[in-house]
Amino acid sequence: MIIARTIAELKEAKSALQGTIGFVPTMGALHKGHLSLIQQAKAENDHLIVSIFVNPTQFLEGEDLDAYPRREEADRKICELAKADILFMPTVDQMYEHDELSIGAPAIRGYILEGQKRPGHFDGMLQIVMKLLNLTGADNAYFGKKDAQQLALIMQMVTNYFMDVKIIPCEIVRDEKGLALSSRNAYMSEEEKVRALCLSRSLKRATKLIMGGKLDTVSIKEEMLEVLKEADEVEYVAIVDRAFRPLEKVELGNTMILVAAWVGKPRLIDNIWI
Ligand code: PAF
Repeated sequence: MIIARTIAELKEAKSALQGTIGFVPTMGALHKGHLSLIQQAKAENDHLIVSIFVNPTQFLEGEDLDAYPRREEADRKICELAKADILFMPTVDQMYEHDELSIGAPAIRGYILEGQKRPGHFDGMLQIVMKLLNLTGADNAYFGKKDAQQLALIMQMVTNYFMDVKIIPCEIVRDEKGLALSSRNAYMSEEEKVRALCLSRSLKRATKLIMGGKLDTVSIKEEMLEVLKEADEVEYVAIVDRAFRPLEKVELGNTMILVAAWVGKPRLIDNIWI
């Protein structure tokens, strides 16, 4: 595995690759969720590139940019074991210049839910994903469904900018109790991890109601909020279609139920596609 820390090194390493490139962009602190993306990318392509870059432009003032878990040595080993061809770990200076051109998230879909709570987050996220996709020349790029809005916006960017890459949505990976894996879970105490299970439980509750024939989204949300009382603060419960339009009634095959809540230090998100 070649470790590229500069764009020149990445280009040189890439020039030796022939065949399809699968790409998994990450911010490091790799867990089993990342590993499943990495393994899928490895299995479906001739070559695998993984990037680790804690992207400053997607963190808002006062968020956890400095505290974001960094585990370079362990991450490197994981990528090596997964037989990545290239691990790209650039510095901020390699990726950004002062006063550069920027792309923006769409005015509606980029500023609801996560975008409303974290205005500007998706601008920075799209900016870096565009750069990474361009640099790696990926044929297929893998993103988790846990960040459902991020995934939808990346797909929209690829469509709107006619980018020649296929975005592959990957299933959410959970621990044995149902907690969706996230690098930020590391911020929680054992007691908080138990309470954090209320997110996945609220989604299970919603699924059960829907399977029982209840499709009215107002009452489903009310029941979810009951389950979510164990969280310290619920930011939103949303029932939307795949294009992120709010739904009055669940449409089977076209619905996403999304939740964001604080438990201890981290703000957690989870969702289910119905
Ligand atoms: O999901 C993430 O880890 C980040 O948002 C991404 C896609 C690597 C861009 O920085």
